[in-house]
Amino acid sequence: MNRRLCLARRPAGKLSVTDLALIEEPVPEPGPGEILVRNTWLSIDPSLRIRLAETTPDGYLPPLRPGEGLTGLALGVVAETRHPDYTVGELVSHTLGYREYAVVGAGAQTIGGYGAPTRIETGDLPPQWFLGPLGSAGLTAYVGLVEILELTAADTLWVSSAAGSVGSLAAQLAVLRGATVLGSAGSPDKVAYLRDELGIAAFDYHEPALAESLAALAPTGIDAYFDNVGGDHLTAALGALRPQGRIALCGAVSGYDGAAPAGPPNLFTMVAKGLRMRGFRAGSFNHLEAPMRAEVATHLAAGRLIHRESVFEGIEQAAAALVAMLSGATTGKTLCRLA
Ligand SMILES: NC(=O)c1ccc[n+]([C@@H]2O[C@H](COP(=O)([O-])OP(=O)(O)OC[C@H]3O[C@@H](n4cnc5c(N)ncnc54)[C@H](OP(=O)(O)O)[C@@H]3O)[C@@H](O)[C@H]2O)c1
Repeated sequence: MNRRLCLARRPAGKLSVTDLALIEEPVPEPGPGEILVRNTWLSIDPSLRIRLAETTPDGYLPPLRPGEGLTGLALGVVAETRHPDYTVGELVSHTLGYREYAVVGAGAQTIGGYGAPTRIETGDLPPQWFLGPLGSAGLTAYVGLVEILELTAADTLWVSSAAGSVGSLAAQLAVLRGATVLGSAGSPDKVAYLRDELGIAAFDYHEPALAESLAALAPTGIDAYFDNVGGDHLTAALGALRPQGRIALCGAVSGYDGAAPAGPPNLFTMVAKGLRMRGFRAGSFNHLEAPMRAEVATHLAAGRLIHRESVFEGIEQAAAALVAMLSGATTGKTLCRLA
């Protein structure tokens, strides 16, 4: 049998594990040109929460309907193949996570342009890194820094949600490129992790006020902001940016889990200071995956890049993993490992 996580009912406020349900069904059969994949690692990503709401923002993926299966980036082993390019036992990445078995089609199935079915050759590396620093998180961090912010060694950069998957990579890659980096996170433990293990200046965004914390660490302001959070964080960044500063809008997690998205009331600051703000999705920059992997893998191998994982075990824990990650209870890349 195959177990698959579905949306049981739309969350009222914050996501609860009871909003999701595991259903059991027969293992699906691959058709011509398809492969059956036994999933081994599931990537737990905050943006899935956007699709559990009644409506999604214009231009984004459609909402999931109650009863529909959750999807997400995943790694798995080919269990059966009716596709000439794949053989049994190979590792593939794809987008049909949150289930034990998936029939992966020959055509491009992506999440926002990222994650088309791909054979993964891990070499000696842990396979799950291809869902984290060598996968979507790595590409997102790299694109935000290199392509969107055009980061230079002269920049002072603020990264929000800096103890998370994308944020911890963005912060460390920026340091390795010579920038001065400050990071924010939501607990004393995470701030200690940023300061003591990643070696960056850091503050807890809960206290005192964001603007004061930023001013304490960057008294003359910042040049660039890598935004994972939106809302009050983006408002504070607009205040702290120096003239001609840049913002990379990567995500807005503060508005995903039941809270009304809070837009910045101080957008005119962009006019006054000549700021540049650009949103992006990693899936529009797949051509940068190869240079990203080369840079990140070199740093990982040399021990210059610290990568932490929060791993949940079994499909039974996938709902709890998603709830924990959204509430800030995990650090680094959140994953679910399937036996
Ligand atoms: N543009 C793209 O292509 C792309 C791709 C991947 C991810 N993203 C975005 O990147 C961001 C980070 O994703 P991730 O996968 O690395 O997740 P993550 O940072 O590992 O996990 C989410 C974190 O968000 C923080 N958070 C939750 N509510 C918050 C709030 N109200 N205010 C401040 N922080 C809050 C929590 O950390 P604390 O304990 O610090 O609060 C939580 O650990 C998300 O916005 C995501 O949508 C964008």
